Amino acid sequence: MIVTTKKLFEAAYGNYAIGAYNINNLEQTMGLFEGNLMSKAPFIIQISRGARDYTNKLMLQALINAADEVFPEAIFAVHLDHGDEQTCYDCIESGFYSSVMIDASHEPFEKNIEITKRVVDAAHAKGLVVEAELGQLGGVEEHIKVSESEARLTNPDQAKEFVDRSGCDSLAVAIGTSHGAFKFSGSQSLHFDVLSQIQKNLPGFPLVMHGSSSVPQEEVERINKAGGKLQGAKGVDANEFKQAAKLGVTKINIDTDGRLVWTRVHREYFMEHPEGFDLRKPGTIFMKEYAKYIAAKNEKLGSTGQLDALRKFLG
Ligand code: G3H
Ligand code: 13P
Ligand code: ZN
Repeated sequence: MIVTTKKLFEAAYGNYAIGAYNINNLEQTMGLFEGNLMSKAPFIIQISRGARDYTNKLMLQALINAADEVFPEAIFAVHLDHGDEQTCYDCIESGFYSSVMIDASHEPFEKNIEITKRVVDAAHAKGLVVEAELGQLGGVEEHIKVSESEARLTNPDQAKEFVDRSGCDSLAVAIGTSHGAFKFSGSQSLHFDVLSQIQKNLPGFPLVMHGSSSVPQEEVERINKAGGKLQGAKGVDANEFKQAAKLGVTKINIDTDGRLVWTRVHREYFMEHPEGFDLRKPGTIFMKEYAKYIAAKNEKLGSTGQLDALRKFLG
């Protein structure tokens, strides 16, 4: 059942974070639904602009609608990830999405507010909620590369002003994470001091953490052993998710870790079966492994086992 992101946030706030997982194809869709049902967790499906363009934007929509029929117990929202203004309007008009993200975080403060407010007005008129971003994460994101030195943590005072003036419904904050598989060189932890100040300024307001893949070292080693070259890949500590959830982080975005599962499964399969060419063989392994990975991630987020309580909450 597709629900509004707003309701998911209301049910989760302060207790657990909802996993927001990016998908691009059939196998990820199947694994995603199976994994979330295995762990009885609500979830958010994220579609990036790249995912919409990978085949045709209607293909993922059709896959998700089919999955909704195949897995009637699933409760989830569908969200545009890192939208620009035009793509936000397209999703709002489509009648399919639960929420959109307008990412104008690379713009100056005033311009970010101005763009976000336009999208908020259009979205609210159609009953959708809007995620915006303030601060700048490091790493590689569609169309934009931000170096570690350019990354800026979110200013808690600006966060309050930004939310008040833009009318956004949730806010992606920069608190030490970054996109991709190479997040930092040394060791690192989330900036809980900044997060806690943001929550004080915005009590009860849902916060979002992007760039939250853990880049498990065991996964990286297996990929490299099977011919990959991902030296120095590192991610965030998933054991910090629950603490972040207590401080108002209600949605945690994870994409890279799922790509690593795909890479490991396919590299290992073809290394072990150099004669193979039936795509369904590694595809079948991938769907199972992806489901296991989603279920394990939900444990870290605290969303495991929340489905029944959510169903009651939704009435
Ligand atoms: O933050 C970006 C997400 O990982 C989506 O990646 O834009 O390559 O689909 P993508
Ligand atoms: P990762 O690259 O850490 O998976 O982050 C994904 C993300 O933030 C999607 O918006
Ligand atoms: Zn992101």
